[in-house]
This record gives sequence, structure tokens and C-alpha cells, in this order.
Amino acid sequence: MSEGFTLWFTGLSGAGKSTLANLVAEELRGRGHRVEILDGDEVRTNLSKGLGFSKEDRDTNIRRIGWVCRLLARNGVIAISAAISPYREIRDEVRGIHDRFFEAFVHCPIPTLAERDVKGLYKKALAGEIKNFTGVSDPYEEPLNPEIILNSETETKEQSLARLLAALEAQKFIFPSGGAR
Ligand code: ADX
Repeated sequence: MSEGFTLWFTGLSGAGKSTLANLVAEELRGRGHRVEILDGDEVRTNLSKGLGFSKEDRDTNIRRIGWVCRLLARNGVIAISAAISPYREIRDEVRGIHDRFFEAFVHCPIPTLAERDVKGLYKKALAGEIKNFTGVSDPYEEPLNPEIILNSETETKEQSLARLLAALEAQKFIFPSGGAR
């Protein structure tokens, strides 16, 4: 029924990329779409095992994820990436190999992320115990023209999900659910 595309989340560690990826995947599967998630943390234990966090390794990681997303998307799957993907140029390169690409920037300010610190990494990074930590001691280049900006500081995850689905519908990536509004 649907044509595939890639839904590319980008944002800092802990901003909510994986959470939203899982929520939107569940919703889209419920609507009959085939969906695959390539989650940064998971990819790094298999497809990108052995890669670190230098710019070169991050670029390799993102290019691999982008390549797999492209293969899935052109076969009718909604491919969802949830990796930091800190460099604009590489994200745009990945966009460039796709027919249909939707970039969702999950924004959250560092102080809020450091306060939440779900994985305990910001505390260590701010103390200088983790080098090259994105947003603290390594760059994060915000998208200039993403299809949507979600804000996990000011919105609940349900609100972000609803806005994301509405944008996917409005931009004709998916059909409206047809349910009551
Ligand atoms: S990316 O830069 O290559 O896109 P990716 O999303 O795969 O990153 O991995 C990020 C995850 O790795 C973070 O959520 C965090 O759990 C962990 N991590 C470990 N070291 C770092 C680091 N130096 N910078 C960012 N994330 C790190």
C-alpha cells in the first residue's frame, strides 16, 4: 500500500530519539506499514561494531545506517534511524541517496539533558571523564531545514508523536489514519 521512506531522527544523546522512534514505529505498524528501526546504540553492537566516536568513525557509522535505510526504503519499508548523526554534511549526504527522506530534529537543551542523565553519561562528560562527548566536548550541528523540529523539553512524548504523525501526513509521507478527529 505505502511507498517506503526513511524517517531520520537526529539529536543529542538522551534527547528522546529512540523513545520517539519506538512510539512512531508502533503506530505505523498498527496502520499496516512495514517498519524497521536502526537504533544507534544497537547498530554499534552489530553493523558498526568496533567503531568509536572520532569524526571518521561517526561518519562511517552514519553512512552505513543511511545505506541500509536506503535499501529498506526502496523496498517499501519505513526505515527509521535513531542515531545522534552530529554532522550536517553527512546527514545531507544520506538524504541525497534517498528518494524520500524525512528528517526529524529532536531538540533538548544540554542543561535539561544533564539533569535527566538517563545513562549517567553527561555527568561523566561534564567532569571530563568521557572525551569527545557530543554536545559537551564534541560538535553537534543542528539541521538547518529539517522536516520537523520536536522539542523534548517543552513537549510530552505523546505531543511530539502527534505532531510528527501530523507532519508525515501533511507532507504526504503517510496517508491520514482515517480515524475520528
Ligand atoms: S553517532 O555520533 O555515531 O551518531 P550513535 O547514535 O551511534 O552516535 O551513538 C551514540 C550513543 O553512544 C550515545 O547515546 C551514548 O549512549 C553513547 N556514547 C558513548 N560515547 C559517546 C560520545 N563520546 N559521544 C556521544 N555518544 C556517546
